Amino acid sequence: MLPADLAQVHALETLCYSSPWSMSSFRYELENRDAILLVALYGGRIIGYVCVRTILDMTHLLNVTASPEFRRQGIGSILLHDAFNELKKKKPGAKITLEVRQSNAAAISLYEKFGFRVTGNRKGYYQKPDDDALLMEMTLTG
Ligand SMILES: CC(C)(COP(=O)(O)OP(=O)(O)OC[C@H]1O[C@@H](n2cnc3c(N)ncnc32)[C@H](O)[C@@H]1OP(=O)(O)O)[C@@H](O)C(=O)NCCC(=O)NCCS
Repeated sequence: MLPADLAQVHALETLCYSSPWSMSSFRYELENRDAILLVALYGGRIIGYVCVRTILDMTHLLNVTASPEFRRQGIGSILLHDAFNELKKKKPGAKITLEVRQSNAAAISLYEKFGFRVTGNRKGYYQKPDDDALLMEMTLTG
């Protein structure tokens, strides 16, 4: 992800979430050297993105999003695969954590395929609509 991608990324974010990240949140992550941000491109158009950031000994999967028309075609998987490969080079054996809406079956299934397991929950973590969060974790191997 480059600064020039921010307008397209933010437009997709606004389309996909009821409480989207602001443009400045993406800019903050882009400027953070402990963050990895990638975009998926189709004919020059951004159809997905991922953001992970390492804080001390823990890496957080902060955002992974695929454009609605391109879902279930492997975009989310490719983004996670490439981000985790890059992370492996920087931080072998990294521990990765995330929060996900308990109702988000698509994302939970994607994360389970990557080896994430539920380690806890946070009641009332999300609004618009109200929902609990599941906490998931995995450790990069190989
Ligand atoms: C979650 C999300 C990123 C998945 O992206 P995607 O490109 O559709 O995912 P993939 O095509 O790589 O799917 C990989 C696996 O995820 C699971 N999955 C994806 N969409 C699913 C759905 N609608 N229902 C159930 N499982 C689903 C499946 O296990 C799938 O494997 P399969 O197709 O072999 O069954 C996408 O649905 C999305 O952008 N959702 C809105 C944003 C969001 O909720 N992001 C996660 C929270 S930050």
